Amino acid sequence: MGGPFTDITETIFEDKVVLTEEYSPDEILKRDDEIGQYRDALKDVLFGRQPQNVFVYGKAGLGKTAVTTYMMQALEAEVQTRDHAEQLFVYKENCNRSTVYQTVRSLINTARDPEADAFPKRGLGLANAFESLYEELDRLGGTHLFIFDEIDHLDDADTLLYELPRARANDHLSDAKVGVIGISNNYTFRQQLSPKVKDTLMETEISFSPYDADALQAILETRAEAALRDDSYDRAAIAKAAALAARDTGSARQAIDLLREAGNLAERDGSYYVDEDKIEHARDIVRRGRLSNKIRDQTTHAQLVLETLARMARAGELPARSKEIQQRYEQVARSHATDPLTTLKSIQTHLSDLTMLGFLLRTERNEGLSGGYYYEYELDLDEGVVLETREQIESEAR
Ligand SMILES: Nc1ncnc2c1ncn2[C@@H]1O[C@H](COP(=O)(O)OP(=O)(O)OP(=O)(O)O)[C@@H](O)[C@H]1O
Ligand SMILES: [Mg+2]
Repeated sequence: MGGPFTDITETIFEDKVVLTEEYSPDEILKRDDEIGQYRDALKDVLFGRQPQNVFVYGKAGLGKTAVTTYMMQALEAEVQTRDHAEQLFVYKENCNRSTVYQTVRSLINTARDPEADAFPKRGLGLANAFESLYEELDRLGGTHLFIFDEIDHLDDADTLLYELPRARANDHLSDAKVGVIGISNNYTFRQQLSPKVKDTLMETEISFSPYDADALQAILETRAEAALRDDSYDRAAIAKAAALAARDTGSARQAIDLLREAGNLAERDGSYYVDEDKIEHARDIVRRGRLSNKIRDQTTHAQLVLETLARMARAGELPARSKEIQQRYEQVARSHATDPLTTLKSIQTHLSDLTMLGFLLRTERNEGLSGGYYYEYELDLDEGVVLETREQIESEAR
């Protein structure tokens, strides 16, 4: 008798990694303008001059990270071929959930001789950290390009972005040259920066716009060719995935996710074939996955408020006022051994944030002279996804 895996002999995927985030494409399609702008901003590196700083923005899944990675690889390769070019060092930091101190510390440790001690996690201030970084950079000489991806997540981006580009002008560096590349999918982030920082960081601004169906189709065709077996999908399926993603967000990530999930479905049902129907079915899975990621991005208390609303929705208790939600929230928080936030105001702030993010619906009620005005809240998404995601998060934490 065979085991649970014995009968699995077939797979639809030739190289599944190609359809995941891990994969960086060696060919970038349909971003010639953006690549041209990047080229102009960075070309000075080839001549030992300080490059321009770059700010890259655009919504999720539009190729900001992919194009940046591609440009860095291309620049590094080019520098290698030129005898007279100075050495180039590229630092890639994802700023998701990190502080400026942690970020600078990570830069120091990357720049440092691997034999040397790591810069301490705590005990020293930010000024010490910058000083150590400059020491390392000058020791190495050459050009240092700092990429800060998802920079809007940083606690104090302003300080970092003020310091680094000015390091030479302020005589902190004599030998090394620096360039800063900031990447963000948050349009309001730009507005929050101080005017001086805006001026320096935005020497070159590269904005990424949503892909249309043709562009997505081209991207998907290349991916499908590498990822899926030849006889396992048709062009109509690719066109369908491209059209759906173009109509919704214009995101290449969404289009690729649709193809991967359709492939998974085709393996599960034993058909080993991706057609338009499979893409259509994958839609719901991808939507739930995206929603789940969005929930994970929220702070603990925002998640608890959301979970409260999901529980209330399931119990048929919505719409509800903030006061009622607060009472239920306190129970939910305690059930997860978390101390609840104590003021109604803080719950109301979470409720209005969650409304802005599209998780909740808010209706204004007017009870006339006796009742006055108040808001009622409802969940604007499937409570099942919220509860499932919260359960997963809690069990991962255990
Ligand atoms: N022009 C392109 N050619 C080939 N692949 C692309 C292109 N644009 C995006 N992709 C692919 O689409 C996916 C999403 O792109 P990427 O991660 O670069 O998005 P992003 O703009 O950085 O999004 P986020 O703001 O969420 O970080 C990746 O798998 C990437 O390889
Ligand atoms: Mg990115």
